[in-house]
Formats: sequence, structure tokens, C-alpha cells
Amino acid sequence: MCGIFGCILRRGLAAPLIHKGLKRLEYRGYDSVGVATLDGGVLHIRKDAGKIDEVAERLSFDEMPGAVGVGHTRWATHGAPTMVNAHPHVDCGGVVAVVHNGVIENFQELRRELEEGGHRFVSKTDTEVIPHLIEEELKKGAQPREALLRAVRRLRGSYAIAVLFASDPEHIYCARNESPLIIGLSEDGAYCASDIPAMLPYTRMVAWLRNGEAAILSAGGYEIIRISDGSRVDRPLTEISWSLKMAERQGYPHFMLKEIYEQPQSLRNALRLQKTYLDLLAAFLDRGREIFLVAAGTSYHACLAASYMFSKLARLTTYPVIASEFIERYGSSIGIDSVILAVSQSGETYDTLKAVEYARMRAATILGVTNTVGSTLTRVSRAYIVQQSGPEIGVAATKTFTAQLLVLAQLALRLARMRGKISQDEIDEFQEKLLEIPSIVEEVLNRSASRVEELAEKYKDEKLFLFLGRGISSATALEGRLKLLEITYIPSLAYPAGESKHGPISIVEEDVPCIFLCPRGETRRDIVGSIMEMKARGAKIITLCEEGDEEVKELSDDYIEMPKGIPELLSPIPYVVPLQLLAYHIAVKRGLDPDKPRNLAKSVTVP
Ligand code: G6P
Repeated sequence: MCGIFGCILRRGLAAPLIHKGLKRLEYRGYDSVGVATLDGGVLHIRKDAGKIDEVAERLSFDEMPGAVGVGHTRWATHGAPTMVNAHPHVDCGGVVAVVHNGVIENFQELRRELEEGGHRFVSKTDTEVIPHLIEEELKKGAQPREALLRAVRRLRGSYAIAVLFASDPEHIYCARNESPLIIGLSEDGAYCASDIPAMLPYTRMVAWLRNGEAAILSAGGYEIIRISDGSRVDRPLTEISWSLKMAERQGYPHFMLKEIYEQPQSLRNALRLQKTYLDLLAAFLDRGREIFLVAAGTSYHACLAASYMFSKLARLTTYPVIASEFIERYGSSIGIDSVILAVSQSGETYDTLKAVEYARMRAATILGVTNTVGSTLTRVSRAYIVQQSGPEIGVAATKTFTAQLLVLAQLALRLARMRGKISQDEIDEFQEKLLEIPSIVEEVLNRSASRVEELAEKYKDEKLFLFLGRGISSATALEGRLKLLEITYIPSLAYPAGESKHGPISIVEEDVPCIFLCPRGETRRDIVGSIMEMKARGAKIITLCEEGDEEVKELSDDYIEMPKGIPELLSPIPYVVPLQLLAYHIAVKRGLDPDKPRNLAKSVTVP
């Protein structure tokens, strides 16, 4: 996730506005920043790694000439945060400048083709193919508008782009597929931005570009066209009434809720991983004598769930370990044949890095899954995967958890294929379901949101909760409980349901709410027995069960119906979503700020 801001003014300099606009988009990315302006048919570009204000001051952004320009604040996805990888990117002739938010899936094949055709690339980004594709069309005689359309038709993946052509200083060209882009208009000029907050200081009159649309901005107006055939789209501007604070959260009262609702998109991004990296990680995992999945907090729960996936799909035994316990527990056996797969959203968690460093010193192979390109974890890993969730502001991890799970599921499937442990039909079926996960989560959000809010109202004053699940759902239970604990401070327990009779059941008395995860699958039969045990002791039974599961519904005091046909191994992704919402709504109803839970930090970089 990156931020784009562009403007074309009737008079004055564009760059100071771009600088301010980018500042408001800083939450979308902040590892590098760049601006391109056009003046007298000449492109001026300044960019570097670093924070927006620091780079803007060092490179005097505000003095860049020209009334038209585009800027970008980056959250690295392909290529480390360096000056060369910062946007804008240009073609060989330096006459087309592009800023981009998103991930181009087919950039490797496009880059190969363009390089064979003589184009020179300087960065490691996927974005750089865009200016070169446009240049190729210009060479064939196309005008900027047609060159843009032809170029973006070749892109697969997600993109919001803003493009300047040195030959056409009267316009900014934009296009979008899946990544957000908004255009706006005022007396002074026209604007484009990734998000409303950047736009608000200049205008409240905006229009959203939709997937497959391009826009051409001039100082006095805009035109929206379809990328497929260049036909015109009539879209009037809408007035935005949000306050700036609301706008930063896209109308959501808290970042946590915004991030919960971003999950269909972050999951789509997580499906765009480069297959070569998945294969590389799978190959290292396959070679290891013993595999440790090392992480802290929510990331540990992703590891726990992944251990079921690796076992069931790839027949590979892995050891999920809480990072702070790793050295004490397994340190003495770590050696050259050990593989450590470290999972860390930030890539900076002290305990995770300490475990990794320890293992590295003993010649173990270090692999990483992270959300942060350029983080310490990426630097110390032999190979790593970036989950592409964009920055997460809410302290309680939500969208990064489900994306981690989807990355790990893909990895397990690759490994299964490589090891030939399950049939082609099973692989194909699982793969198909993997691809449906973002839409399933969308459906869960649409269907269960109001029901969860009702339940939050009903149970908000409880003193204790139990979360129970079997098999992979025991990881979902732990994560649901962590969300509740983190932001509502309500004491709660989570256990594998089968273990509950070895202790937790002793605290169950009349009306204690007990949340059961009951997806269809191998554990479904046994969970009914666990429900009965709790019910017999007067617990209030709240279940997450598959639509039409009458038996479980009948045993429940309250239930949330989940879509049919979700394989049990993927169930933690959709099933955790109502639990995230439940924690969120209970926190808000108890008057707490879910974005800033007491005593907790987003990234724990100290021992
Ligand atoms: C902190 C955060 C959690 C996070 C954990 C691990 O405790 O509050 O949300 O899950 O650190 O962070 P990591 O960046 O390594 O995934």
C-alpha cells in the first residue's frame, strides 16, 4: 500500500501541495518519497528513501517548478526502500513519469520482453515496467491517451497510477484497477489521490475511479474513460462531508474497524505473491531436518494454524514456537539442518529477531514472512515473502493476521505439490478455495456485521469468556481471545476444546459465555461433545457454525452462521473475522479506544 497525490493547477506551484498531500497519506507508507513536476515541457524528479518531511526538506520539494505534478509515498513491495526504487519511475527517454500503488503480477514477463526490446531498467520495482510500456506505445506513434490505455491493458494485478508526459503539460493521466484512486476538482485546479484525507484541504468535490477506468485531468476539469475501449463514463462529483479525522479512517470511527474491513483487499494482495519466492521457501522447508515456526503474539497464532496446514497438506511436521521461548526450549539442538521460518508483521520484534540471530549463528536456514520490506527480518533471512497487507495502524493485528494465514496456506500447498503427498485433485480443489477466500471474507463481513454488533451489546458486561475450538480452530480460538483480551481487557481463556475438561471447565458456572468454533470438517463431530459438556454446566453457548448446521444451532444460545463449503484448513481466515468484530464492538461499547489499548505497542522491539 502506497500513497499517490497529484495536482494540476491554474497558477502557482504544484509541489508544495503535493508535499502536503503526501503528508496526509503518510499512514499508507513512509519508507521513501518522490515528486515529479512538469515545467516548460521538462520533467523534474526528486526522490529518496526516508520520511516525507526529511526528504522534502533535503531535496527542497517545495521549490520544484511547474503547476503540474505527481507524488508518491512508498510502502515497499518489490525492491528495498532505496532512492532508485522510490517513485516516480521513468522511461528510457525520461519523458514519462509514473507513480503507482499496487502490485503488478506479470511484471517479470513484461520486464523480460521490454529488456529484450532494448529498454533499460534501473530499479527492482514492478512499477518500472509501466513507463517503459507507455514509451513503447509512444514510439509506435500513439498519443498519450492511447499510449496509456494500451499500456495498462497489458498489466495484470492491482494498480492506481498517475502519469505525467513531458509532451503534454496540460494533463495528468490516471488509471485504476483494485487500488484506490480519487479525483477532485476545485476553482484552482484538479487533483488525484489515493485517499480522501489528502484531497480535503483543497476540495470536497470528488469522484471515485472504479476498476478498469482511467481519468484525464486538466486544470479546469476531468474526463473519465473505460480502459477497455476508451469510451466515456459520466460520473458527477460528490461532496464529501467527513471531518478530516473521519477521512483518515475512510469514514470508519477507528483504524481497527477500517483494517478489519480492508481484509478482502489485503487477502487479494496476499494471493499475488511471486510464485518463485513461494517455491524457494517451499524448497528450503522441504530440505530441513526440523522446521520451527517462530513468532510472537498474533503472528504466533498464524504459525500455530500453519503447523496444521503443513502437516495435513504437505505431511510435514513443524514446531510452532513462541519466539521468547525458542532458545531455551530448542536452542541446543539447532544446527545446519534446522530451518527457522520466522513470521513477523513488522519484521522487527525483538524476541523473534533474537531467536533468528541465535539460529543463524548455528548455521540454520532462516526464512521469513513479513509485511515490511527492508525490515531486519528481510535482511537476515535467506529467503522471505512479503505479505503485501500495507501498513496496519491498529495495535491489535487484524488484516495482517489473515494475510499471514493465506501466505502460509499457499506455502503449504506448494510444499504439498512439491512433495507429491496429496492427489492432484485435492491440490486443485484446495487451490480453488484459496482463491475464493477474499470473497468469502467479504461475504462474512456483509452478513455477520450487524449480528456481531447485537451480540456485543448483549455480552458487553461479561466478566469472563471462554474460546474453544478443535484442530486448526484451536488457533482461531486463541486469536479471537487475544483480540478480546487486548482491547477490552476482559479476562478470557482459549483452549483446544478437547483439553477443556483438564482444567478450564472448573471455572464454568451458570451463564459464563463460551464461544465455540465449529467449521465443517474432521473436528466437527467432536466439538458437539465439547459443547454438551459446557452446556451441562450452564455455560451460555455462542457458536460460529456453518450455515444450515441445525444440530449446532440447536445447542447454541446464540450463533453466527458462516458460509458453506469452507475447507477446515482455511477456516481460521473467515472464522476469525466475527471474533475481531466482536472484540472491537465490545471495546467501543465499554468506552475504550480499540486503536490504543493500554500497555501494548504495535511493534515490540525491546526484550
Ligand atoms: C505486538 C503487537 C501484536 C503482534 C506482536 C508480534 O505484541 O501488539 O499485534 O502480533 O507484537 O509482532 P510482529 O510484528 O512480530 O508480528
